[in-house]
Parts: sequence; C-alpha cells; structure tokens
Amino acid sequence: MTTTRSHPDLRRYASPDDIEPTFTVYQEAIRGTAARVYGPDQVEAWAGPRSTDLKDWDARRRRALTLVAEVDDTVVGFTDLLPDGLVDMLFVHPRAGGRGIARALLTAIMREARERHIPELHTFASRSAQPAFERLGFTLVAHRPKNTVRGVVVPNGEMRRRL
Ligand SMILES: CC(C)(COP(=O)(O)OP(=O)(O)OC[C@H]1O[C@@H](n2cnc3c(N)ncnc32)[C@H](O)[C@@H]1OP(=O)(O)O)[C@@H](O)C(=O)NCCC(=O)NCCS
Repeated sequence: MTTTRSHPDLRRYASPDDIEPTFTVYQEAIRGTAARVYGPDQVEAWAGPRSTDLKDWDARRRRALTLVAEVDDTVVGFTDLLPDGLVDMLFVHPRAGGRGIARALLTAIMREARERHIPELHTFASRSAQPAFERLGFTLVAHRPKNTVRGVVVPNGEMRRRL
C-alpha cells in the first residue's frame, strides 16, 4: 500500500493565531496517535487538561524556534528547536499522519540547527515517536522507564543525532 505524501507549507510559529491550532494538534496527537502505545492514564497525564490558560503554552512556543506545518491553510503539525539542540516538541495531527509531515518538519529543523552551528540534536522521544526519529537519523541512547508526567510514569527515550 502506498501513502500519498503531503507537501506542507512550513513557517515560523506566529502568536496569537497559532496558539490554539498548535495546542489542538498536541492534544489530538497524544489522544489519537500516542494512545496506541500508552494506556489511558498515561495519555490523560501527558495530554493534560483539554481546556487551559494557554499563556504558558504560547510563551514556550515563542521562546523556542517553533516551526509550524500547514496543509491547505490548516495547521497539521509543529516542532521546535532550543539553543542547546533540544527538539522538545514534535506533533502531527492524526488525520495528517503517515504522510511525511514530521519528516518535513525535522528536515527543516536540522537545516536551522546547522545554520546556528549546533553540532547535535537531542530529544526525549515518546514510544510513539521513536520510529519516526530513527528514520530521520536519530539513535536511541537511553531508555527512560521512569519518566514521569503529572505524577504518572510515561516511559520515553533519549535520542541523539549528530549534524
Ligand atoms: C511521531 C509523529 C510526530 C510522526 O509524524 P508523521 O507525520 O506521521 O511522520 P512521517 O509521516 O513524517 O514519518 C517519518 C518517517 O518515520 C516513519 N514512521 C513514522 N511513524 C512510524 C511508526 N510508528 N513506525 C514505523 N515508522 C514510522 C515513516 O515511515 C517515515 O519514514 P520515511 O520518510 O523514511 O518513509 C506523530 O505520529 C505523532 O504526533 N505522534 C504522537 C505524538 C508524539 O509522540 N510526539 C512526540 C513527542 S516526543
């Protein structure tokens, strides 16, 4: 079976318009996609409340170099880059999954990182995202079986990629 690749438009996160769409993608990606590999309590803890004051959310997206992917003028995914090479977020809406959106986002982030002379990227990847990071050249360097979110254990793994 072949899956059609999307060719998303990539651009920098812009406040305030991107606040809610990125938060929705985050919620849906965890509740729709990550829920295939984590249990209900883990999903609830990681996703957090559906409705919340998004001031902190916006501030964190603005502090990082956040890239947003759009298809047909709809936000379908986003990722980011911190100055120390941390890729903190990578989320794609389930309806847009499996079509190369994460690949496009991470490829762009690698280009941005090289321009900033960042020698290596690292991330704390969920079990849901590890195969995608591997396809993009990341290597699992440590299992984190005790990673805890809002008091619930949600195992993930530290992954790295030299640039
Ligand atoms: C992980 C995630 C961002 C991937 O997004 P996506 O747009 O569906 O990924 P892509 O279609 O760009 O896939 C990129 C590559 O990874 C591979 N891949 C992605 N998910 C895979 C999986 N579960 N198993 C095997 N391979 C996978 C794809 O085949 C593709 O390989 P190719 O480009 O060499 O053919 C998305 O599934 C998601 O949001 N998951 C839930 C949230 C999450 O865990 N985020 C990470 C937080 S650390």
